[in-house]
Amino acid sequence: MTPATGASPLAGRRVLLIVGGGIAAVKAPDLVRRLRERGAAVRCVLTRAGHEFTTPLALSSLSEDRVFTDLFDLTDESEMGHIQLSRQADIVLVAPATANLMGRMAAGLAPDLAATLLLATDKPVMIAPAMNVRMWLHPATQRNLALLRGDGVLVAGPNEGSMACGEFGPGRMAEPLEIVAALEAHFGAEPQSRPLQGLRALVTSGPTHEPIDPVRYIANRSSGKQGHAIAASLAAAGAEVVLVSGPTAQPDPAGVQVVRIETARQMLAACQAALPADIAICAAAVADWRVATEAGEKLKKENGAGPPSLSFAENPDILATLSGMSQGRPGLVVGFAAETEKVIEHAIAKRRRKGCDWIVANDVSPATGTFGGDNNSVTLISDGEPESWPPLSKAEVATRLVQRIAARMGSGGQGA
Ligand code: CTP
Repeated sequence: MTPATGASPLAGRRVLLIVGGGIAAVKAPDLVRRLRERGAAVRCVLTRAGHEFTTPLALSSLSEDRVFTDLFDLTDESEMGHIQLSRQADIVLVAPATANLMGRMAAGLAPDLAATLLLATDKPVMIAPAMNVRMWLHPATQRNLALLRGDGVLVAGPNEGSMACGEFGPGRMAEPLEIVAALEAHFGAEPQSRPLQGLRALVTSGPTHEPIDPVRYIANRSSGKQGHAIAASLAAAGAEVVLVSGPTAQPDPAGVQVVRIETARQMLAACQAALPADIAICAAAVADWRVATEAGEKLKKENGAGPPSLSFAENPDILATLSGMSQGRPGLVVGFAAETEKVIEHAIAKRRRKGCDWIVANDVSPATGTFGGDNNSVTLISDGEPESWPPLSKAEVATRLVQRIAARMGSGGQGA
């Protein structure tokens, strides 16, 4: 298969994919496809519980390799031993990693083929946990997670969202492209697959929270998915990335320095502290206004004065501030334009007003599901004609944007 993303750090890598039991196992075939598109060889191991959700046939068709299961394994020792199977890979990926599988890994138990391979391998291991929110938040799972991290196991996700069981919260498996991005970040050691090696990038992501009083704040619906995906892609491309993030449920992207803030003013200060940077990408949905005077105590309704009236003060514009720096301005400053009507027209005007080099326009009207959703339809506005991209996942938007940035930085276009 032809790699979809040019020189992906996954090209030529061998991934041993252990598919655990859980509804997220239905995404395993897509994960195999995404890995193979990037030139990786994938060999699958399907647990007994995984069989309930996906089939060996689907996995073997997409991996173009045989699939190992406990059933096969009984007869296979002479052909392919456990040890050999676990060590022929460059990485062992467990997706989905169930609470049970994580528990077995943390305890060093090996009752089946998957757990045996995980115990026998001398290769890096990455898990993509997926389980019910209560199971994920349970102290036992969190303890196991800490043990696994301590053992050097890499972790991709989980994401927050509505779950197959009807509950909402963290526990949804990371999307296949997010897992791919985490693997790319891990493997991106060679200079040719790291076009942004040696460059520093600053990314803002998520909403800001602007306090009204000690218990209330003004916020917006930004999930941080797009900004976090961009930070992950920049890191995978070799950049040294500082991600300044408002409050979000997104996991920290692998290999990225994350600075968590709450307000717009804190975001600006954190961005300024992270300079100098070669690339700045402002994907955060910064609150334009803050309450002029934050109440020191909780506003009470008993004082008989009726609802309080809030007066607002304007927040600093981080994108405009970075774009307008007379000294030490990042070579490439990219903004986003969240619009609900006349998307391109407004975005072109916004680019001019804020002085950034590129602006990524996206339609955030409720019908698009962009805010908080996994997909994005964007138009890239630079000096030339606006360039509309097809509807893509936020991870794919991030990959494309980073490819464009790499092309621009590589062509010496580092000035404004
Ligand atoms: N932005 C910023 N600081 C702000 C407001 C916005 O850095 N105080 C950045 C966003 O991160 C984004 C771009 O400016 O990259 C545009 O944000 P958007 O919300 O679309 O525009 P606004 O500046 O809020 O303008 P308007 O409300 O008129 O659409």
